[in-house]
Amino acid sequence: MRVGHPTRRAFELAEGEALLELQGVRVKYGGIEALRGISIYVRRGEIVSLIGANGAGKTTTLKSIMRLVPLAAGTLRFGKRDVSQLTTEEMVEAGVSLVPEGRAIFPSLTVRENLELGAYLHRDKRAMKETLSDIAELFPRLAERWRQEGGTLSGGEQQMLAIGRALMARPALLLLDEPSLGIAPKLVSQIFRAVRRIASAGVTILLVEQNTHMALATSHRAYVLRGGEIALEGPAIRLAANPEIQAAYLGG
Ligand SMILES: Nc1ncnc2c1ncn2[C@@H]1O[C@H](COP(=O)(O)OP(=O)(O)O)[C@@H](O)[C@H]1O
Ligand SMILES: [Mg+2]
Repeated sequence: MRVGHPTRRAFELAEGEALLELQGVRVKYGGIEALRGISIYVRRGEIVSLIGANGAGKTTTLKSIMRLVPLAAGTLRFGKRDVSQLTTEEMVEAGVSLVPEGRAIFPSLTVRENLELGAYLHRDKRAMKETLSDIAELFPRLAERWRQEGGTLSGGEQQMLAIGRALMARPALLLLDEPSLGIAPKLVSQIFRAVRRIASAGVTILLVEQNTHMALATSHRAYVLRGGEIALEGPAIRLAANPEIQAAYLGG
């Protein structure tokens, strides 16, 4: 697979160096402070998950990285650059792609048309064909439905399509917002398997999930967000064994 960012070597980061770093990030919606100064990092090559209850601030964290909400305080670093002032489009150009909560595919466009929209930065025909064939290999169910309208797909297939569309931008960093939400269990495991394959192709991943079990089983490290603050962090394997996490998020 060649889904990774073609210029990711230009980041000049060694394996293990932080690709993304948020420091003291605060986001407010009117009077509500959704993020109260969070600091997290994702090393190049890692899968990191951000878990926590509904309303904890997970989506807002991803939106702050994509510059879809303004920062009330704090800084964002991507690669070696301070990206706190960039626009959403500049973040995509820099190599960050978001698979939004709820998928947001175009229901009346075909699977292939939905994917092509994700490639608006890379109109190079050959690169686009390569990425399409990588996506077909990653999600054979999509490849069987290339000409079908997006709206006719099942929830799980739409999630695959949303991930495929984000990969069309050839990201160095992929942000996934609750990819397992409302999806049949059989497809959930296919999606998590695809996430691991994408990571092994060289794409760094920040995964937001309420499916704590699957998220921890798939990640290297994790952060627990509670009320807009980081409550716990550490290697996923250690968090999975933490009695507090087991009681709160893993059904005891
Ligand atoms: N557009 C918005 N306007 C006002 N409040 C919002 C908005 N989006 C989210 N919030 C509030 O911010 C907090 C964090 O929301 P969110 O980041 O969506 O949490 P999560 O993704 O963890 O469920 C919640 O209290 C939510 O109600
Ligand atoms: Mg959310």
